Amino acid sequence: MNASDEITIEAHAKVNLTLEVLGVRPDGYHDLRSIVMPVSLSDTITLTRTPATFSLALTTVNGISATQIGPVEKNLAMRAAQLMQSRYNVQSGVRIRICKRIPIGGGMGGGSSDAAGVIRGLNELWGLRRPDEELAALGAELGSDVPALVLGGAVLMEGRGERVHRLALDGPVRGFDLVIANPGVHCSTPEIFSRWKSGLTTPPKMVQNMTFSIRASDVRRAAGLLYNDLEAAVFERYPTIARLSETLRLAGCLGVLLSGSGASVFGLVRDRAQGEEICRRLDADGVWNVLAHTCPMV
Ligand code: C5P
Repeated sequence: MNASDEITIEAHAKVNLTLEVLGVRPDGYHDLRSIVMPVSLSDTITLTRTPATFSLALTTVNGISATQIGPVEKNLAMRAAQLMQSRYNVQSGVRIRICKRIPIGGGMGGGSSDAAGVIRGLNELWGLRRPDEELAALGAELGSDVPALVLGGAVLMEGRGERVHRLALDGPVRGFDLVIANPGVHCSTPEIFSRWKSGLTTPPKMVQNMTFSIRASDVRRAAGLLYNDLEAAVFERYPTIARLSETLRLAGCLGVLLSGSGASVFGLVRDRAQGEEICRRLDADGVWNVLAHTCPMV
């Protein structure tokens, strides 16, 4: 096999450091404003060129349960490959192999990260040379989280999720260490959005302040600014997630937040040493956890 017939990419999970729900749209979706950051936790995707056929093989590691994996034809990575082929009139097919480490249905990208990885990977494997903005728009056809993950880096996501801009960070940042914990329950995104109630007043200048914290790698300030409008609805529906959030807070995290529409929660920590200590405590309680850091890093 020729080296250019195969490519391996890391599809990073994401956390939403801020997530404001601004209202319901006429199409039933919600208008959002959110700062999305990729984290070091990732699925590994290997794409191999085939004459014309598509296939998908998934393996899970790190105690990730495979029970939530749906049928192949509904898999977002598979659909991303088919969309790329038809949109760009490509004659080749692809064999997709994914090693999954991101909790499935955990509010951390998961399937959307894989779709974004396949879009970026096929752009390279098939020599399409399409610009990032065009690929992000294509990703919006697959799901609201996909465009931000196609773009990569720290992104301001707006609208349904289709309007995405990289945050201006003036160069590489050191980033934040964080502990991610998953309670093993599955949150239905449509259900959580339907339970969202407007009314909370968003603290002013949230995006500007969080952007500043990221740029300065000021973890204490970022911890104080963490915000998610979906958290109340999730905690009410799933008290176990509220308890997990409290566990992270009591363990010493500087700030704790639900990721996306759940079910994972994450806590920002002072440094890796503190994160390792908190992970050990979660291990002792039998809670799925991982120590990660935000990307981009130096
Ligand atoms: O776009 P995606 O398929 O990921 O969205 C899953 C569900 O989440 C939608 O069917 C919708 O119920 C809800 N959603 C929403 N507003 C958004 C994104 C998602 O209401 N901006």
